[in-house]
Amino acid sequence: MIRTILTYPDPELKKKSAPVTVINDSLRQLVEDMAETMYDAPGIGLAAPQIGVLQRVIVIDIAGGDEPPELIAAINPVIVHAEGETFEEEGCLSVPKYAANVRRHGKIVVKGLNPDGEEMTWKAEGLLAIAFQHEIDHLDGILFIDQISQLKRDIFRRKYRKSQEEE
Ligand code: NI
Repeated sequence: MIRTILTYPDPELKKKSAPVTVINDSLRQLVEDMAETMYDAPGIGLAAPQIGVLQRVIVIDIAGGDEPPELIAAINPVIVHAEGETFEEEGCLSVPKYAANVRRHGKIVVKGLNPDGEEMTWKAEGLLAIAFQHEIDHLDGILFIDQISQLKRDIFRRKYRKSQEEE
């Protein structure tokens, strides 16, 4: 089922999500709904709090265009190693029509569970590493616009408010 994606400045997006304690069919249904919602948007990542579920679950698929889907679903993801630096443009389904460059680690290792409860290790670099960091931030109530400079954030807020008023 496609869920509604919350958008900034919805207060739910600022909350910290709780770890998943039970892996069962309703959790797997949540993952399925999140994937469906992400593909429908379309986007390359989605975190559970973006659909109002404050649990530590993310889905990512960076395969674009005609490439076959490569869905990653991570439960309770934790970055256990990070190195290097990138500064690439990011967007977010919860902050429509806005993009900004964000400083991230270039290479990371993430541990977590898959929807079957198996322990997983994901080694990521480039776009996948950025997507993991962006989605894990959502689980801590952090949006990519919180990661940019104060000056850019002020400009963003002004522009954003204006665009909302125009609608
Ligand atoms: Ni996002």
